[in-house]
Amino acid sequence: MDGRSPRPLPVSAQIGTDLKAQIAQGVYPPGAALPSTRALAVELGVSRTTVTAAYDQLIAEGYLETRPGARARVAAGLRAGQAPAAAAPMPPHHLSAFGRRLLAEPAPAAAPGPAIDFRYGDLSGDDFPVLAWRRALSAVLLRRPARLGYGDPRGLPELRAALQAYLWRARGLSCSLDQIVVVNGSQQGIDLCARLLVDPGDRVVMEDPGYGAARRVFAAAGAAIQPVPVDAEGLQTGRLAGIGPARLAYVTPSHQFPLGGVLSAARRQALLAWAEACGATVVEDDYDGEYRFDARPVEALLSLDRAGRVVYVGTVSKTLSPQLRLGYLVVPPALSDAFTEAKRLADRQAPGLEQAALAGLLAGGGYERHLRQARRRNAGRRAALLAALADSFGGQVRVEGAAAGLHLVAWFDRVPAAAEIEMAAAARAAGVGIYPVGPLYHDAQARPDRAGLLLGFAGSEPDTIRAGIRRLAAALTTGASAGS
Ligand SMILES: Cc1ncc(COP(=O)(O)O)c(C=O)c1O
Repeated sequence: MDGRSPRPLPVSAQIGTDLKAQIAQGVYPPGAALPSTRALAVELGVSRTTVTAAYDQLIAEGYLETRPGARARVAAGLRAGQAPAAAAPMPPHHLSAFGRRLLAEPAPAAAPGPAIDFRYGDLSGDDFPVLAWRRALSAVLLRRPARLGYGDPRGLPELRAALQAYLWRARGLSCSLDQIVVVNGSQQGIDLCARLLVDPGDRVVMEDPGYGAARRVFAAAGAAIQPVPVDAEGLQTGRLAGIGPARLAYVTPSHQFPLGGVLSAARRQALLAWAEACGATVVEDDYDGEYRFDARPVEALLSLDRAGRVVYVGTVSKTLSPQLRLGYLVVPPALSDAFTEAKRLADRQAPGLEQAALAGLLAGGGYERHLRQARRRNAGRRAALLAALADSFGGQVRVEGAAAGLHLVAWFDRVPAAAEIEMAAAARAAGVGIYPVGPLYHDAQARPDRAGLLLGFAGSEPDTIRAGIRRLAAALTTGASAGS
């Protein structure tokens, strides 16, 4: 491949392909006359020469016959099935056990968001540091290496060094360069964890409610998912003893997704002790640890790990853009080779240009300058959302998990959980995208019977956020009075 998109077929070839398909479908049976070249040219809005070229090609291939002065006809000897088989049913493909498990899990909805969208995970395009990124990227391009080849599957050495320094400054982590593997976003990091650490049937502990994209990875790997409830202090580690040993636990200790609890110090110790006792790996997803609005960022769980049980997962999806697909793992030294080789097999390495640009941004201080700005802007959005919820809903709404990150959960304590779907539909009809928390619960029976909405605020400006919540309130009031 040369990287360009495939060239479209010439128009005469497209006409030829369409005619063959119609012959195969019996629209023109053997012996039937085709439209004259003049008539078809007028109908299709193309030149007669183009249609004649298409007919000539089909004559050459034996699909059509001509006699002087008469219209072209479908070759009399053409049997059904001789024509290109548009209709012949293909034997079904064998889908692997992985593929079957994958499709058995509900896929996220792909509907485009309405005008005002509280979809969690999106960032505002205005926040991307266009100039700094362009400078960093240009600097990389101007270096013009003598050869273009594949690099270290763990990532560019300069990026890993810059990440090592950043993780120490920003997250209190000290690790060796060999422990860092640059990946295509957290998602690939979690996927590599599943490939390397989980066999079908292995028990995997997951927070409930929790991050669906991680749950799908482990479920598709054939894990027996063991949901463990969370509260304001994160995963209820007291429950671990009752469930017995597991292969892996996936947690979001700095800011539990979606409810926002911070895993308490006692629970951190308990989780690490449990992992050590049963030989489990703890996957720490630190997806938005950079955003804490009330205090300094919380320390990473990895910094307490003396026994080498934690795989730390970081990403730039909340700090720069989810479109970059750049993330990083800090893996225990004993797993470094396995992750390196798994990454090599998955895709050889993360994209080099972007890695080098990120390294430049980190090393030159531009990343943290941008982060300070992004924090300020997101603090403004968060304040706008909290104030708008209070103005429009007052005591009807209780907010959870707003101290950190780029989303919060709004609970409607007096509305049953079953109403979430209708609320989302009413909001969508009014041009507002809101997202029920229901799908984030693994154990639907264990979820509280009250409606909850996951509201991301990083994708819209404060004015839009305020307008969205006003519209939402109006839509829900109208829906409620129409239903009463
Ligand atoms: C819990 C959690 N982890 C990770 C991510 C980011 O994933 P990625 O780095 O693959 O974009 C998100 C994004 O929404 C998230 O909510």
